[in-house]
Amino acid sequence: MVNNAILSFDGKSIELPIYDSTTGEKCIDIRKLREQTGAVMFDPGLGNTAPCQSSITYVNGEKGILRYRGIPIETVAEKMTFVETAYLLIYGHLPNKNEMKAFSNRLTNNELLHEGLLHHFDAFPSNGQPMSILSAVVNSLICYSPEIMDTTNEEALDNAIAAIISKVRTIAAFSYRKAMGLPYIYPDPERSYCDNFLHMMFSIPNKMHQPTQEAVKALNLFLLLHADHEQNCSASTVRIVGSAETNLFSSVASGICALWGKLHGGANVAVFEMLTNLANNKETIPEFIERVKNKETRLMGFGHRVYKTFDPRARILKNAVFALLDAEEMKNDPLIKIALDLEKIALDDDYFISRNLYPNVDFYSGMILRALHIPLNMYTVMFSIGRMPGWIAHWLEGKRGEKKLVRPRQLYTGNVLADYVEVDKR
Ligand code: CMC
Repeated sequence: MVNNAILSFDGKSIELPIYDSTTGEKCIDIRKLREQTGAVMFDPGLGNTAPCQSSITYVNGEKGILRYRGIPIETVAEKMTFVETAYLLIYGHLPNKNEMKAFSNRLTNNELLHEGLLHHFDAFPSNGQPMSILSAVVNSLICYSPEIMDTTNEEALDNAIAAIISKVRTIAAFSYRKAMGLPYIYPDPERSYCDNFLHMMFSIPNKMHQPTQEAVKALNLFLLLHADHEQNCSASTVRIVGSAETNLFSSVASGICALWGKLHGGANVAVFEMLTNLANNKETIPEFIERVKNKETRLMGFGHRVYKTFDPRARILKNAVFALLDAEEMKNDPLIKIALDLEKIALDDDYFISRNLYPNVDFYSGMILRALHIPLNMYTVMFSIGRMPGWIAHWLEGKRGEKKLVRPRQLYTGNVLADYVEVDKR
């Protein structure tokens, strides 16, 4: 068995250790590369770089496999709740009954926002971007939990973890209520995580909202399918920020900002806009596909850095959309028809086949949210609520594992040395 890779460089042979991951992928250790050669690796987008070890989530993009702590996503989707999934990702094992009860109680005890925080919502314009409001308010939670600045206080950390998972849902619902000019509806400790969120979103003071079982189930599924996805852009952001020993609240707030972009979590909004434009006959599907192939635009919700086949989350969501639509009698939804037509065309077209472009999680997730009456500008906020356990798990792994400030190198292409020119001579 070969344990080292040999790199021939500048007339010298350098041995680089090779590690096996538990699932068999090989990893070449280049930590001594610069010391031994003076050279660094060039890898824009870090598609060939493993900046850390991790035991949280496994993705095999060629085979379309996703597992949380070793458990297949299909099993998680069938058997688990979002809260149980959050515990699994964060604490590394399935909770027993007592652990589950204690965790749920901690979430309930942390569901209220400090009344002082409510004034933050007043300061934002009513048409403020919900992702910006969410990241700002989550970041400001540290002002109300200064005890976690003591990084040795594990009890405070457990409370902070529960506070984020619980309060992010309250913050999301309150920012929606504020934007709509509706009174805040406080969380109800008797309700489950998802039921409670829908209550805070849609109850009115004289009429409590009682979501259907199907709606609660669909929201649970949406959230748990988004709960982690190994070293994606936002999880990597959280890990980078955390590597500077930045507190948990601020680190996950940076994850929210990273998620916002339309190549990442913002894609769920972009998919929906794309489908709506097509439904409104802004252009025909063949005209749109032609523009995609001419690289004037992208087929949003398609393609993935890691998956080179159907994203397993997209498959599960697609089935769930149909189940939910049956319940809500929305079978003839024009957007669903367009999504199915686009999917069929793309799966048969050489442009997409040759580039391994398949539907990703965002292709169908908006359909679930729409059926739940979540407004479009909240779609990426919903993704953030779902992704929170993953960000927390990555932050903890960085804190407890091999601590190393993330500080990459570069391939410098600027001036070697330049003269300063006085302003009147430029
Ligand atoms: N539509 C049309 N062409 C595409 C698409 C797409 N959605 N995605 C990739 N391509 C083409 C791209 O133009 C390139 O073609 P060529 O080889 O001729 O230059 C080739 O496929 C490879 O693309 P890439 O940009 O180098 O691949 P990547 O791994 O950097 O991109 C991606 C991954 C997700 C950014 C990209 O597929 C994309 O922009 N998809 C649309 C946005 C989207 O749905 N994002 C959600 C991702 S999943 C959820 C999440 O991470 O949050």
